[in-house]
Amino acid sequence: MGRSRTNSGLAEDLLIELDRDSGVSLHRQIEASIRAGIRSGRLRAGASLPPTRTLAAGLGVSRGVVVEAYQQLTAEGYLASRSGGYTQVAASIPPTTTAAGGPGSAASMTRPDRRGTGSSVAASAGLSAGLSAGLSAGPGVGPGDGLSAGPRAGSSVGSSVVRGTHPSAGSSAVRGTDPSAGLSAVRGTGFDGGPGPKFRVDFGYGRTDVSQFPRAAWLRSVRTVLTTTPNDRFAYLDGRGVPELHEALCDYLDRVRGTASHPDNVVICNGYGQGISLLIQVLVGRGARRIALEDPSSNDDARVLAGAAGLDVVGIPVGPDGVQVDALHRAEADAVVLTPSHQWPTGGVLSAAARAEVIRWAERRGALVIEDDYDAEYRYDRSPVGAMQGLAPDHVVYCGTASKTLAPGLRLGWLVVPAHLVADVVEAKVLADRGSPVIDQLTFADFLARGEFDRHLRRMRPVYRRRRDALLNALRTHLPELEPAGIAAGQHVVAWLPPDLDEAMVVTAAARHGLGINGVGPYRITGTGPGGLIFGYAILSESAIAEGVALLATAIREVRGP
Ligand SMILES: Cc1ncc(COP(=O)(O)O)c(C=O)c1O
Repeated sequence: MGRSRTNSGLAEDLLIELDRDSGVSLHRQIEASIRAGIRSGRLRAGASLPPTRTLAAGLGVSRGVVVEAYQQLTAEGYLASRSGGYTQVAASIPPTTTAAGGPGSAASMTRPDRRGTGSSVAASAGLSAGLSAGLSAGPGVGPGDGLSAGPRAGSSVGSSVVRGTHPSAGSSAVRGTDPSAGLSAVRGTGFDGGPGPKFRVDFGYGRTDVSQFPRAAWLRSVRTVLTTTPNDRFAYLDGRGVPELHEALCDYLDRVRGTASHPDNVVICNGYGQGISLLIQVLVGRGARRIALEDPSSNDDARVLAGAAGLDVVGIPVGPDGVQVDALHRAEADAVVLTPSHQWPTGGVLSAAARAEVIRWAERRGALVIEDDYDAEYRYDRSPVGAMQGLAPDHVVYCGTASKTLAPGLRLGWLVVPAHLVADVVEAKVLADRGSPVIDQLTFADFLARGEFDRHLRRMRPVYRRRRDALLNALRTHLPELEPAGIAAGQHVVAWLPPDLDEAMVVTAAARHGLGINGVGPYRITGTGPGGLIFGYAILSESAIAEGVALLATAIREVRGP
């Protein structure tokens, strides 16, 4: 176990090589090296890291750069701060063998040939025997943990269980501000040309500013694909998608999201909506009975799909630091869907301790963690917190989407799947639609490889940040009694209402004043909890945001009465 806390020899063990011409920030490079060292087992659990000052001096960087790297890795669960101001490798991180060479960002920056490093499929299958055995045992067949250990449908583990086999469960309210719109409606109500009610200002959630779609850069990639791709590439393909996109995504995800991905484990799908549908089919096929979802959480994807597939749905309460793990232990679920980097809708980030605990839960139970990483790229106060998948690639499915970063209409999403589940997910994908459109995939691969995606994110981050700031300023001015939460990332903010205000009454009064806004209530599984409002600000100008908050203040005055 741990080395002495004064062992500055570890500075050399960290094997950090900084490339000052790479365009990757120095703190990111330090993070990537340390992450890779932990994943490979070179830096063992409990090992002390050198003091920030020592490492900074050794690397010739400012201390702040090292502090930022340590803080980031602590937030992600790789490092732990100890009393006395020193930092250790967290106790709970097992070495990862998914992609040889430690598939952390450092490896992906320097690894010349991802495919030449051995088969992750073979390596990781052995690591997750529990999950694999549990999930493949089928209902009532397998011993021990895993799916066979869960209670039969109908047993009671808490008040928030929603029984399966109700395809309509949760479908009455969809994202967007018109609860009567039904599932056929599109997320958000103010989408161009859509049938939703027209509000003066619409804080409906689920919209991305598609007017900023990088048309010129995308067109360059389309041109490249159409002029260079041989004809035979446009024939049927295997359900996983095109290899160019697997490669480009792995490079991006490992570098920017801290995943431990390998091209062999990536499955391209039509957005998160299809990704979660495929995963639920696979879980059911392997005998799953119960799925845990954050409470509150979105009510137009996993909840509806799981109910329709006959799974019991159990809500796990969400606090300021994300899902409450003790409730997860009691839930006896076979899988959990989480939004750990930015909980939807409350905006919390799952704490490092909770991440480790969720992973321990998954390991012990042979359960699957489904990580919905829908909008983490937009983080405004610091680098986005890395994905959980990087901590336990054999137990976590990473789900990404272009819906928040580029456009929901692209219908482009990607899964990084534990090796032992890849074949099943691909089979489900082939059955669903024989694979996602090739030209779009190749275009996105080229777009990523050219660095256009990074450029687009760099351009959009300040745009969304200004809109968020306008919202927070307006709330401070007109409604200081509301308590904004989850403000550090994403494209929406929740503001909690004071106890004397009824959420539904506020939403209704707001609509009367020409303001579209959702309450948190319709997204709760248990139906209880404080009142709150969800402000989607992504497509609104700063002046529209200010006007919307002023309308809300008028509506709230009306609710309160004279
Ligand atoms: C929580 C959550 N996950 C995922 C998505 C993206 O879904 P999709 O990729 O199907 O467009 C959204 C979009 O609104 C979302 O709110």
